[in-house]
Amino acid sequence: MSALDINNLQNTFQNAINLSGSAGAVSTSPTQSFMDTLPRRMSTSKHAKVLKPFSTGDMKILLLENVNETAVSIFKEQGYQVEFNKSSLPEDELIKKIEDVHAIGIRSKTKLTSNVLKHAKNLVVIGCFCIGTNQVDLEYATTHGIAVFNSPFSNSRSVAELVIAEIISLARQLGDRSIELHTGTWNKVSNKCWEVRGKTLGIIGYGHIGSQLSVLAEAMGMHVFYYDTVTIMALGTAKQVPTLDELLKKSDFVTCHVPATAETKNMLSAPQFAAMKDGAYVINASRGTVIDIPALVQACKANKIAGAALDVYPNEPGKNGAGAFNDDLNSWTSELVSLPNIILTPHIGGSTEEAQSAIGVEVATSLTKYINEGNSVGSVNFPEVSLRSLDYDQENTVRVLYIHHNVPGVLKTVNNILSNHNIEKQFSDSNGDIAYLMADISSVDQSDIKDIYTQLNETDPKISIRLLY
Ligand SMILES: NC(=O)c1ccc[n+]([C@@H]2O[C@H](COP(=O)([O-])OP(=O)(O)OC[C@H]3O[C@@H](n4cnc5c(N)ncnc54)[C@H](O)[C@@H]3O)[C@@H](O)[C@H]2O)c1
Repeated sequence: MSALDINNLQNTFQNAINLSGSAGAVSTSPTQSFMDTLPRRMSTSKHAKVLKPFSTGDMKILLLENVNETAVSIFKEQGYQVEFNKSSLPEDELIKKIEDVHAIGIRSKTKLTSNVLKHAKNLVVIGCFCIGTNQVDLEYATTHGIAVFNSPFSNSRSVAELVIAEIISLARQLGDRSIELHTGTWNKVSNKCWEVRGKTLGIIGYGHIGSQLSVLAEAMGMHVFYYDTVTIMALGTAKQVPTLDELLKKSDFVTCHVPATAETKNMLSAPQFAAMKDGAYVINASRGTVIDIPALVQACKANKIAGAALDVYPNEPGKNGAGAFNDDLNSWTSELVSLPNIILTPHIGGSTEEAQSAIGVEVATSLTKYINEGNSVGSVNFPEVSLRSLDYDQENTVRVLYIHHNVPGVLKTVNNILSNHNIEKQFSDSNGDIAYLMADISSVDQSDIKDIYTQLNETDPKISIRLLY
C-alpha cells in the first residue's frame, strides 16, 4: 500500500503511469554509497520495515530547472515516477503539471505562488534544490499541509574554499595583476605583497562555513581567531574571542560568515574598520547587508584597509548579463569598482559542481524520508518530527501522519480514534499555527484502515492525513 492519503491513492492508481523526460546519465560512486543508506523497496535489513509505496509508479515527482542528477537517481531508485525538465515552466504549463504530482523539485526560478499551488490536488512535499525558499508561498504551503525542504548547508565547503582563494589573492594583489596583464601592462611588484603563513585570520560566525574555513586556514599556517554569539568548541588550535572588537584588533584578515539578521546589519562599518589593524583585509561571502560598503570604500581610500573581497551585495541583479552591476542597483558601485585590490564576485561562493551534487542528495533524501516515513526533520515550514523505524516483523502496524491546526484538544481526539489499537509510539510538535503528529499503531487489520482514515478525516483541526503501512 501507499504513503499517500487514501483519496489521493485512488487517483494515483487510476492514473496511467506517465514517465516522460530523461534524466541523463546517472552517477555512481559516492552518491551510490550514500543511497545505499536510504530506505529501499526491498529492504536489505532484517530489522527495519520499509514504509513506502509498494507498487512501482504510484508516486509522481516533477523535477524542474535541471536539478542535479544525484536527485534523479535517488528518486528512481525508490521506484517513483520521475518527470525531469531542464528548465522552469511557464505558469500555465506549471499549473497543468502540478495538478496530479505528489512532489515537486525546483530551484530558484520556479515561483510556487498560491495561484499555482491551489491547483495541486495531490501535492505532499516541495523540494527546493537550493538555499532559499522565497520562491515558494510558504504560508500557503503550510496551511495546506505541504512540507517544504531546502538545502542550507551543502555548499559550505565551496564557500570556505573560495575564501581561502581570496585570502591569498588579496595578500598577493592577484586581481589587480591579472586585470593589468589582460590589458597589456606588465607590473612585477613585491611591495605590500605577503605570504599568508603566520598571519592571523579573524572569522566572524563559526558555523558551517566559518569552522570549515578555520581548518583550511590553519593548514596554510595561519593563526585563527573567531567571534560568535554562541560558545562553540574550536577546531584545531583556533581560539574563540569574547568580543568583536578583540577579533578586529588581532586580525590581518577579517571574514564574515554570519546570517542576515537585524544584529548583523552593517556589522562592519566605520567604527569597526577603524578598530582593525592598519592594512588589514576584509572578506564578505555571507550576506550583502553585513558590511556597510560605503564605509568600506572610505576605509580603503584612507589606506586603512588594504583590500577586500566581496561575493554578496545588498542588491544583486536578478539575472546574468553585461551591465547588470551598476549604480542603479547600488549607488556606490562605480566608486567601489575603481578601487585597487578589490575582488568582486557575483555571489558564487556556493556555486560548484560538488555543491550542486550535494544539494541533489540532501534534498532528495529529505523528500524520500518524508514521503516514505513521514520524517519532517529539516523542513523549513513544518515542525520537525520523526519516529524510529518500525521493526520488520511488525506486520499489522500502521503509521499515522496527521497534520493539523495547532488548537487545544487534538491529542485527545486523535487518541480516542486510535484507542482500539496499541499506540506503540507517538510524537507531536507544533510550529506556530500548524502541528504534526506521528503515531505507530499496531494490531490494525486491513479493514480498520479505511475506518481510521475516515474518522481522522472528519476531525475539525485536520489539515491532511497520510497512513503508511
Ligand atoms: N556566498 C554564498 O554563495 C553563500 C553560500 C552559502 C551560505 N552563505 C551565507 O553564509 C553565511 C554563513 O552560513 P553558514 O552556513 O556558515 O551559517 P551557520 O548558521 O552554520 O553559521 C552562522 C554562525 O553565525 C553565528 N552568528 C549569528 N549571529 C551572529 C552575530 N550577531 N555575531 C556573531 N556570530 C553570529 C551563529 O551563531 C552561527 O555559528 C550565511 O549568511 C549564508 O547565507 C553564502
